[in-house]
Amino acid sequence: MDDLDSLFNVRGQVAVITGGAGVLCSAMAKGLAAAGAKIAVLDLAREAACKLADEIKAAGRTAVGLPCNVLDRPSVEAAAEAVLQAFGRVDVLVNGAGGNKPQATTSPDKRFFDLPADAVQWVFNLNFVGTLLPSQVFGRLMARQQSGVIINVSSMNAFRPLTRIPAYSAAKAAVSNFTQWLAVHMAQEYSPAIRVNAIAPGFFLTEQNRFLLTDADTGALTSRGQQIIGHTPQGRFGTPDDLVGTLLWLVSPGAGFVTGIVVPVDGGFSAYSGV
Ligand SMILES: NC(=O)c1ccc[n+]([C@@H]2O[C@H](COP(=O)([O-])OP(=O)(O)OC[C@H]3O[C@@H](n4cnc5c(N)ncnc54)[C@H](O)[C@@H]3O)[C@@H](O)[C@H]2O)c1
Repeated sequence: MDDLDSLFNVRGQVAVITGGAGVLCSAMAKGLAAAGAKIAVLDLAREAACKLADEIKAAGRTAVGLPCNVLDRPSVEAAAEAVLQAFGRVDVLVNGAGGNKPQATTSPDKRFFDLPADAVQWVFNLNFVGTLLPSQVFGRLMARQQSGVIINVSSMNAFRPLTRIPAYSAAKAAVSNFTQWLAVHMAQEYSPAIRVNAIAPGFFLTEQNRFLLTDADTGALTSRGQQIIGHTPQGRFGTPDDLVGTLLWLVSPGAGFVTGIVVPVDGGFSAYSGV
């Protein structure tokens, strides 16, 4: 192996990132852009998507911001059309849109028995259906091209569910399972050069979990937040940039024989039994 540079070269590749304006995915978008990829930031929040694309362009890279609701197929198709118009092809899809909500979370005054089905469905749809739909639309383009990389965003909850968040845990388990299914399907039915993997971030303090991990008034760690740090051998929450190296590896030619895996980026959380 002489040419190590080309192993991790993603220059000129077109990367679409759903939920791209969010905390974790905006770091992924900037990381891919810094590595020379052309970025399409897709987000329900149009202004935030355009703002991030402007920031990336201001840094001398290439990006476009587009409105997209990952739960609405015509919206995803319109975004795909716009990406094709802007860049002519799609090499990478990062299915980043996802999240949890308090209404689907148990607490002393909201028992499991009373969780509303519509809140559970909301969480399941956003994480699972919101991964499946863009995979259908952009996967079809990859099948035509006979190449491409899909990266899903799973979670620690997919390996073993965390307390209090049954819908989010089940939905992310479905995302991990779907990652394996789609990897096999794309390789067997369309092209072995279409790869599908997932990243499972450990614990990153963001808007979706701040209400569970820190006290709203004081900002101090809740006992849940303390428990998480106690179970993370590296002793800290992740920072969004911690995800970039793994992402670059998975999308680059260096991972050419890697498909159907879920990579934890978790400071050792999933390896630690607690004893
Ligand atoms: N924060 C964590 O610790 C953590 C851990 C594991 C996994 N994750 C996963 O990482 C991903 C990103 O999480 P984050 O913490 O950066 O969240 P975030 O809330 O900061 O970002 C999510 C983004 O998705 C967008 N979005 C929401 N609904 C959408 C829709 N229907 N269509 C298109 N875009 C939509 C939002 O506007 C937002 O910009 C999610 O899949 C999340 O479940 C987060």
